Amino acid sequence: MSNDSKTEPIKTEDESQKTSNYFDDHSLYGRRRFLKGVFTGIGIFGTGFLGASSISFLSSAEAMESKPVELSLANIPVGERIKILYNNQPAEVIRTEKEIIARSLVCTHLGCIVMWEKDNNRYYCPCHDAIFDANGKVVSGPPSMPLENIKVTVKGSSVVVGNI
Ligand code: FES
Repeated sequence: MSNDSKTEPIKTEDESQKTSNYFDDHSLYGRRRFLKGVFTGIGIFGTGFLGASSISFLSSAEAMESKPVELSLANIPVGERIKILYNNQPAEVIRTEKEIIARSLVCTHLGCIVMWEKDNNRYYCPCHDAIFDANGKVVSGPPSMPLENIKVTVKGSSVVVGNI
């Protein structure tokens, strides 16, 4: 006697076929279920990604919009420089005897922050050794544009920096 006859019953061709269909159905079911899960996951991930992208886009669009900054005139003494954030970027408000000026402190070369050097009466950009004069005009270095002046409006005892 062989071992085969003891361990496995002899199957007819129909039973063999049934068994094969049974597994095929289940694997097909499993495959469908798997693919459904994959596509659902992709859908959820994709929706989340698009949502995050939209939020990111809105955030950058919002950042592009310059909101005016209001200061009290009393807080800007004559001869002083007040640092502010305008459009999420450093800027300064300068009050002289004659006028009030607001100026971006973002270098027009590659966007580093310039420093006011009181002793030298100039702005200095440490990134590429650029120098701007007291009016923000380029003296030396790679920038081709002056520092950006920002509109200032005095309304009674308030100073508004930016477009109203
Ligand atoms: S970023 Fe200011 S000189 Fe280059």
